Amino acid sequence: MDRVQYFDLNKIGNSSLGFITVAESLKNIPFDVKRVYWTYYTPQDVMRGGHAHKNLKQIIFAVSGTIEFNVEDKNGNKETFILDNPSRGIYIPKLIWRDIKFSHSAVLLCLASELYDENDYFRSYEEFVSYDTVKSSTQLVDYTKDILEKSWIWLNDPEIKRLTNTPDFTKEDQKKWFEQLETLENYYIKGVAFDGNIIGAAGLKRIDPSLKNAEYFGYIGEKQYWGQGLSKFILEEICRSAKEKYKLTTIYLNVVPDNIRAIKAYENFGFRIDSIVKDNVKMSLKL
Ligand SMILES: CC(C)(COP(=O)(O)OP(=O)(O)OC[C@H]1O[C@@H](n2cnc3c(N)ncnc32)[C@H](O)[C@@H]1OP(=O)(O)O)[C@@H](O)C(=O)NCCC(=O)NCCS
Repeated sequence: MDRVQYFDLNKIGNSSLGFITVAESLKNIPFDVKRVYWTYYTPQDVMRGGHAHKNLKQIIFAVSGTIEFNVEDKNGNKETFILDNPSRGIYIPKLIWRDIKFSHSAVLLCLASELYDENDYFRSYEEFVSYDTVKSSTQLVDYTKDILEKSWIWLNDPEIKRLTNTPDFTKEDQKKWFEQLETLENYYIKGVAFDGNIIGAAGLKRIDPSLKNAEYFGYIGEKQYWGQGLSKFILEEICRSAKEKYKLTTIYLNVVPDNIRAIKAYENFGFRIDSIVKDNVKMSLKL
């Protein structure tokens, strides 16, 4: 669920006895509810809200009265939602700017996916609009056995195998490589995560402290993430380690000539072509 939408829960009972509506974490609520709060006695028709969250997801009900939500996503799409029924809520994913208007006696009940964190707030609309979502969602993580398993699938995909110029290898080769990984001093590898999902790997090989250089490698194995500008942030992180951890001054890489997307991504980042020999383009970057 990545857009704002009405969120209906069952209404149990009848008009002679009254009704009950129940919210259960991870059952009928699609996230682990870490916090519940309610607001009341808000002056009528005053615009409240005026904020967005970096990560928080919420489901909000008007358990009494009427509440109007005017929401806007990062693409500038605006919508209005009216809550006037205690069993009909609104689901608000992360990164939604909202302004809220309350009727007299309205009570707002919020189920929230995280504990309170002031750093999770955008209080300024300008800050919200200029926030780079791709950058903030892309992270490098430790390279684990789970990522190794995924790499087996990614690097045996015919298209990725060709684009990355990966030679044939067996499960046994891969296992041996992983077991000696910690002892390899001239090798650095990280998993690439987007919004917490592992989608690829990147790193440095042939790290040479005397020449102060190394060869960059990287791939996004989950193809739906290609062409979304993630490479910039992966390269930024790897280059930061190259400079700070290994004190390198140059990194180079090899890429097949028809891997246009990769060559563009590297050129955008500042790599220059050093040579094109048959089926290999060699590029380098001064750090
Ligand atoms: C190569 C790779 C790392 C690039 O990362 P990315 O995040 O997908 O790339 P970006 O979104 O930054 O796009 C880079 C450039 O390619 C362009 N591009 C995107 N899709 C494209 C396509 N199908 N054909 C041509 N160019 C394309 C983008 O527009 C961008 O150029 P621009 O800034 O001039 O517009 C990634 O796609 C990948 O891992 N691919 C599979 C494995 C691989 O090729 N690894 C590299 C081996 S050297």
